[in-house]
Amino acid sequence: MDKLIAISLILFLSIVVLVSPIAAFNVVQFGARGDGITDSTLSFLRAWIFACNSARPVTLYVPRGTFLIKTVTFSGPCRSRIQFQIDGTLVAPDNYYAIGNSGFWILFYKVSRLSVYGGTIDARGSGFWACKKNGHNCPAGARSISLMWCSNVLVSGLTSFNSQTIHIGIVHCSNVKLQNLKISAPIGSPNTDGIHVESSMGITIAGSTIRTGDDCISIGPGSMNIWISKIGCGPGHGISIGSLGNSFNEAGVQNVTVTDSIFSKTQNGVRVKSWAKPSDGYARNLLFQNLIMRNVAYPIIIDQMYCPDNSCPHQSSGVKVSQVMYKNIKGTSATQTAVKFDCSSSNPCTGITLQDIKLTYLNRSFRPTMTYCSNAMGTHIGAVFPKSCF
Ligand SMILES: *[C@@H]1O[C@H](CO)[C@@H](O)[C@H](O)[C@H]1NC(C)=O
Ligand SMILES: *[C@@H]1O[C@H](CO)[C@@H](O)[C@H](O)[C@H]1NC(C)=O
Repeated sequence: MDKLIAISLILFLSIVVLVSPIAAFNVVQFGARGDGITDSTLSFLRAWIFACNSARPVTLYVPRGTFLIKTVTFSGPCRSRIQFQIDGTLVAPDNYYAIGNSGFWILFYKVSRLSVYGGTIDARGSGFWACKKNGHNCPAGARSISLMWCSNVLVSGLTSFNSQTIHIGIVHCSNVKLQNLKISAPIGSPNTDGIHVESSMGITIAGSTIRTGDDCISIGPGSMNIWISKIGCGPGHGISIGSLGNSFNEAGVQNVTVTDSIFSKTQNGVRVKSWAKPSDGYARNLLFQNLIMRNVAYPIIIDQMYCPDNSCPHQSSGVKVSQVMYKNIKGTSATQTAVKFDCSSSNPCTGITLQDIKLTYLNRSFRPTMTYCSNAMGTHIGAVFPKSCF
């Protein structure tokens, strides 16, 4: 009888292995060790190459434990779909030079049909930030996760701590969805943007909490069809389109939606930002709706006068901002100028619509909020407070 059960079990398992459409590889089988000390970079790389060469869909599994990883590139194209299931934590070496010179820590390059589930990554950026604050001979810094030339990617449930620079950078990608992320770096940590998108299309960022020292999300030149929803942003600098117009020949930004999100104690809420110098860039068809502002310094802002260190004196932004809708945005402003449209004198903003806005000054005992407009044209619908200047 026992023998029969054993034989049945072996038969059953063989069938499962044979017919299962998904192969699974554990990085530990490739020599990775979750002890937080052993350098597991090459083991991860070997596991990736194995997975990438698999003719059928494959799961790459990272079990619980702390895995020390240096700069690593997971390259495609791969033969089949890859699922990266991470139950453990990936940490960068303590010495910030180990990843600080390559621009990225973990890079996915030319990969399509990838899903990354779970995982915690910690770039341990504090030493690097301190170096930058003291100002001498620091490396340029690394993004924690970079997706370059990728398509059809899902990143779900990832937690990212303390990147040296940007936590997640998406460049030259299409059809990428980021969801249920937790991103966190301290207030004041320099340039630790949560998510940066550039030269990409069809990007969805949903259901995520982002607290950083810089923008929660920044959308750079050449981005289109971007959907951002259910974000808890703050502290940080808010959600920004820009900076745009730093180069003269620049791809524009179009069709960006930010919806159903909450901003807490951020420097900006929703911002469009461009350099005050010539450029053929643009930002158009932007929709900001159903947003709550809590103690935000500039809840609604278009700033086309960006020019650090007075590097562009007496110039105006060539970036054309048009067709921007602000709808159902409520809450409190930490400054009196709750709505600020500081547009280009050579390329005024056109087609701005304000609908159902209620932003009050946090300090009620003081004064009501106000709108500032320079070179901005548009309309208002419904109740708009502070009063629009259109
Ligand atoms: C705008 O982007 C959304 C995704 O955010 C997409 O569904 C929609 O088709 C795009 N609209 C146009 C006109 O391309
Ligand atoms: C509100 O404004 C008044 C007058 O400027 C100031 O004295 C007070 O400290 C402010 N309160 C807060 C909470 O900022």
